[in-house]
Amino acid sequence: MIEARNLAYYYPGEEEVSLPALSGINLAVHRGEYLALLGPNGSGKTTLLKLFNALLTPSEGEVWVKGISTVDEDKITEVRRYCGMIFQNPDNQLVATTVEEDIAFGLENLALPSAEIKKKVLDVASLLGLDHLLQQPPHLLSGGEKQRVAIAGVLAMQPLCILMDEPTAMLDPAGRRDVIETVGRLNREQDLAVIHVTHFPEEAVFADRVIILNQGSLVTQGPPEIVFNDLKLLHSLGLQGPAAVELAALLRKDGFDLPSQLIHSRELVHSLCSWERKS
Ligand SMILES: Nc1ncnc2c1ncn2[C@@H]1O[C@H](COP(=O)(O)OP(=O)(O)OP(=O)(O)O)[C@@H](O)[C@H]1O
Ligand SMILES: [Mg+2]
Repeated sequence: MIEARNLAYYYPGEEEVSLPALSGINLAVHRGEYLALLGPNGSGKTTLLKLFNALLTPSEGEVWVKGISTVDEDKITEVRRYCGMIFQNPDNQLVATTVEEDIAFGLENLALPSAEIKKKVLDVASLLGLDHLLQQPPHLLSGGEKQRVAIAGVLAMQPLCILMDEPTAMLDPAGRRDVIETVGRLNREQDLAVIHVTHFPEEAVFADRVIILNQGSLVTQGPPEIVFNDLKLLHSLGLQGPAAVELAALLRKDGFDLPSQLIHSRELVHSLCSWERKS
């Protein structure tokens, strides 16, 4: 559904002086897939999302979104509709005076009949549990609610993929859980592909695939239980594994025999309890 072929990107003026922001990226994202994208600051995560959303166009190579090349200027609106983007700060994406108008914003630009817009807005608001907030001014909502409104605005456009750039970075734990659960549900129930950029490994343990970028290159990718158990690699990049993986590594050093692909806290607790019973 999204495909990057030999993709490289240099920010203007960067070519002679330093490394490209991205280079040699080959990646295919499939329909309904949940992909988590991690990497140190400056590794190219945001740049990659912007290339998928046609906010940037490749310096080398190509990006294809549902068979459309992102350099095809006539079809940029279509690409952006297929790949909606959610940013870190919800305040920067909410523009209207009520939640209802905000969700409708993208649809208005498509010049749809107002009855159809109203129906689509009510449908996504109900799906995201925002019905009771439709007449509220967005700036009065909590961070988690604002992020859900931003997601609703993207979802109203019936995208195939939602690109999220650290969507929970500004949220408290409850807001973070709220957004993660919402997106996970949409991924499962609406067959929506998700590319989720995060610095929190815990948010990525339920992904179908984890990708790690470093200095503009794709370093590794695979199922979370494989990628996150390579602590040597993660630590060498200045990253950390999920809490359960880090703790399990310490416990193994102390002689605990734990499964090698353990990744969830619950699995660790379960293993420790059965280990306790055995010993
Ligand atoms: N507008 C810009 N102009 C020039 N260079 C840029 C610009 N935006 C990003 N870069 C450079 O491109 C590289 C990749 O940046 P990018 O924002 O994609 O990283 P990131 O992985 O999203 O980092 P973070 O975790 O801090 O959000 C970095 O070296 C950065 O300095
Ligand atoms: Mg970024």
